[in-house]
Amino acid sequence: MPEKRRKTIKEINEIIMKAAEKARRETDSEPEPEVTQPLKWPVNCIVGPGLEGAIACESKVGYVNGAKGWLIYRGYDIFSLCANSTFEEVSYLLLHGELPDKKQLKEFGDKLVQYRLIPNTSRLLMGFSVESMNTMAALRLGTDLMRQEFAHVDKEDPDMSKVISADEDSIPMETKPKGEEHAIYEFKRKKEKPETVGSGMSAGNADYETCYRLIAGVGTLTGMIARLRQGKFPIAPNPDLSHAANLLYMMTGKVPDPVAERIMDICLILHADHGMNASTFASLVVASTLSDMYFSVGSGIAALNGPLHGGANEYVLRMLNEVGSADNVKTWYEEARKAKKRIMGFGHRVYKAYDPRARVLGPLAKYLARHNEEAWRYYATAEALEKKVVAELGMGKKIFPNVDFYSGIVYSSLGIPPEFFTPIFAVSRVSGWTARVMEYLQNNRIFRPRAMYTGQFNMEYMPMENRTGREE
Ligand code: CMC
Repeated sequence: MPEKRRKTIKEINEIIMKAAEKARRETDSEPEPEVTQPLKWPVNCIVGPGLEGAIACESKVGYVNGAKGWLIYRGYDIFSLCANSTFEEVSYLLLHGELPDKKQLKEFGDKLVQYRLIPNTSRLLMGFSVESMNTMAALRLGTDLMRQEFAHVDKEDPDMSKVISADEDSIPMETKPKGEEHAIYEFKRKKEKPETVGSGMSAGNADYETCYRLIAGVGTLTGMIARLRQGKFPIAPNPDLSHAANLLYMMTGKVPDPVAERIMDICLILHADHGMNASTFASLVVASTLSDMYFSVGSGIAALNGPLHGGANEYVLRMLNEVGSADNVKTWYEEARKAKKRIMGFGHRVYKAYDPRARVLGPLAKYLARHNEEAWRYYATAEALEKKVVAELGMGKKIFPNVDFYSGIVYSSLGIPPEFFTPIFAVSRVSGWTARVMEYLQNNRIFRPRAMYTGQFNMEYMPMENRTGREE
């Protein structure tokens, strides 16, 4: 590697180490005992609106400590993974629970090379007017088309002897579900039939090969959608490039330089998993019905799209355009607050401290923006806005920048248009979705909460001619 590039890569690593050091200084090292121990059903927890505080399942995949601003994948701190790992290695780690050895990583990499090729999906996708479609809608459509190409679930009935029925509608109103009994039952069953756990695949066609296919395929789909929107033919993946480099290559048509590749790789690592977030939960809910992995990932994409979740990154750039410049931050902020607007890229359900992902992405955005006038304007505006929001809402409401605040500036500095910020998030998060689905299916129970009914009873059916007071 030429000296200049080596120096740049070293500078990027220093940015991560500095962010890690800052995080370490500002947090302490005790996990929260109430959410870091084996579950004993039924569980006592205080649940707020939007299921805040609810415990849905046990997981070893990852941990978010919102009070301290930690993010951990399978025991490894996010900063250390960003500094030392790759998206491929992190995906393997999330799925299989440990870092791969050389052979395992090579085999996994080879699978991704193989599974990036989705020729029939590509052909089918080109039959749609992708150029005028919302990019996340196109991505979700792509996963449905991949299902068409690869899934065999329609031909195979799930083995119902291994399925626990849990339709609460069949339980009389006065009978309370006894979580403890079900949990014991499932635990016993797991011991009796370990093979269904090891494979984890009795449920529909959920298996590791499908996870690999989706991790590889969502990247290819994103590249394909980018090209089709430019009115160009999709580019075949390059077997010699990493996942991050392939993504940039398939989107732009240019093999990225090692710096762009490294930065994209860090972004993919940072977004790969994040606890029981809305899109992960959506994926799990779908999987829990013994649907299949393609539908699970499709529902994850749909949930991620919303502006309160992954869609926020695109809105941040729009917002920064609206603010215009660092000088206008105070006026814009005051008007936004008066209008009760949400400041996009700020706040989080779990983090009540600085989001560790933003600790990395902020300085990376600054690093990339240095030599680019437009990106620098965005960065300077964002930095001023962060100062203002944290000064006003940091102490009281515990509102700090989240992962979406700076990621858009990083992506636009890499030449990626805003409508691809959220698809890139999905390219990464598909690892977390699939890892958590595989884990959940080991002890599957269909998700089925209740709603508090506050409607009426004993209404008498009224014939149409007697209904009055309605518009003709
Ligand atoms: N701007 C202004 N006020 C905010 C913001 C914000 N971005 N976020 C939360 N608040 C206020 C909110 O008005 C409320 O105040 P009050 O108690 O006076 O009514 C308080 O903080 C609690 O808000 P909440 O809506 O109950 O919080 P939540 O946990 O339901 O929502 C959130 C979390 C991420 C949806 C929210 O913070 C938000 O809308 N942020 C902006 C969108 C965004 O950046 N989303 C990306 C989230 S992180 C990555 C990802 O998931 O993709």
